[in-house]
Amino acid sequence: MAILVTGGAGFIGSHTVVELLNAGHEVVVLDNLCNSNPKSLERVKEITGKEVKFYEGDILDRDILQKIFRENDIESTIHFAGLKAVGESVHKPIEYYENNIAGTVTLVDEMRKAGIKNIIFSSSATVYGDPAEIPITENCPKGVCTNPYGWTKWMIEQILTDLQKADPEWNVVLLRYFNPIGAHPTGKMGENPNGIPNNLMPYITQVAIGKLEKLSIFGNDYDTPDGTCVRDYIHVMDLASGHVAALKKLAPGSGLSIYNLGTGIGYSVLDIVHNFEKANDMKLNYVMAPRRAGDVPQCYSDASKAERELGWKAKYGIFEMCRDSWNWQKSNPNGYED
Ligand code: NAD
Ligand code: UFG
Repeated sequence: MAILVTGGAGFIGSHTVVELLNAGHEVVVLDNLCNSNPKSLERVKEITGKEVKFYEGDILDRDILQKIFRENDIESTIHFAGLKAVGESVHKPIEYYENNIAGTVTLVDEMRKAGIKNIIFSSSATVYGDPAEIPITENCPKGVCTNPYGWTKWMIEQILTDLQKADPEWNVVLLRYFNPIGAHPTGKMGENPNGIPNNLMPYITQVAIGKLEKLSIFGNDYDTPDGTCVRDYIHVMDLASGHVAALKKLAPGSGLSIYNLGTGIGYSVLDIVHNFEKANDMKLNYVMAPRRAGDVPQCYSDASKAERELGWKAKYGIFEMCRDSWNWQKSNPNGYED
C-alpha cells in the first residue's frame, strides 16, 4: 500500500516525503513542477536512501490520476499541490480558484472512482482570518479571508467537509499550518522561492547572503509587545512529522478531523530577526516600513489538540528554525539550481 503525495516536490511536501519514507511508508509523488524542482526528490533519495516513484503531471489531469491509481496500490492521499502566493492570488484569482479548487475537486472525484477515500489536506491558519481568539483553537470560527488564496483554503475545507458528510466512508484530515520555516537539518533540502520572496524567513536568509540589501519590517505600531506582528513559526520537519502522525486519523470510521499544526508560541518579527542574528552569529540589515495590507497583528495556535489526539508535538525551537534556514541558504545559494 502506498501514499500519494500531491505537490511532493515542493517545500513542505518534500520534507514530508522524507519523514514518510523514514517511517516505512511507500510513497508516490504527483507534481507538475510549477513551483518546484525535481532535484528536491533526488535529495530525498540521498537523505533516506530510498526511491520515490515520481509522476510529473497535474492534479487537474484525470488521465494521469487514473494512471496513478491503476499502476499503484494507493490507500491515502496527502494533498499539498496548490498555488500559494498571497499577492499573486489577488491579481490572478481565476488561476488560483481553478488550480486549487477545481484541482482538488478533480483529485477527490478520481480518488472516489478508484475507491480511495482517505485524504489529508494542507490548510492554513489563514482560514481563521483575523482570529476571534488567541491562542487559536480548532473551535475558533473560520473568519473572513483577505485574499483569494486564503479563500481557496477556506472553500476546499468546506468541500471536503461536505463530501465526508455525504459519504461517511471518507476519512478527511484538515491540517491548518501556521508559519512553516526551517529546512532539513542536513542542509540538503529547503524552501526554494521563485523571484523575490514574500515570506519573512526566505527574505531574511537572502538578506543574510547578500542577494537582497535589507529587510523591511512591515509595521511597528501594532498592538503587540514590541509593535511588530506576532506569528507561530514551526520547523518544517515538525510539520512533516505532523503528517505522519495524522495518518492514524485515516483509520476506518475516523470521519472528519481538524488540527492546528503550530508550536503554540508566538514570536514577533523583531524576535525572529534577533534570534536569527544570535543563532547564526551575524547582524542583519533591516529598516522599519509601513504596514503590509492584509496582515493580522497576532496569529498563534493552541496546539494541544494535536498533542492529545495524535501524540504529536513540535520538537524544534526557534534556534533550530533559524539555524537550519540559514544552513540551507548558505549551502545552496541558488536553491536547487546549483
Ligand atoms: P510549494 O509551492 O513549495 O509546493 C506546492 C507544490 O505543488 C509545488 O511543488 C508545485 O509545483 C505543486 N503544484 C501546484 N499546483 C499543482 C497542480 N495543479 N498539479 C500538480 N502539482 C501542483 O508550497 P509549500 O510551501 O510546500 O506548500 C504546500 C501546501 O501547503 C500548499 O497547499 C500550501 O498552500 C499549503 N500551505 C503552505 C504554507 C506555507 O507558508 N508554506 C502555509 C499554509 C499552507
Ligand atoms: N514580514 C516583514 N517583512 C517581510 C516579510 C514579512 O515584516 O519582508 C512580516 C509580515 O508583515 C508578517 C510576518 O513577517 O507580520 C510573517 O509574514 P509571512 O509573509 O512570512 O507570513 P504570513 O503570516 O503573512 O503568512 C503565512 C503564509 C500564508 C499562510 C499564513 C497562515 O505565507 O500562506 O502564514 O497564517 F496562509
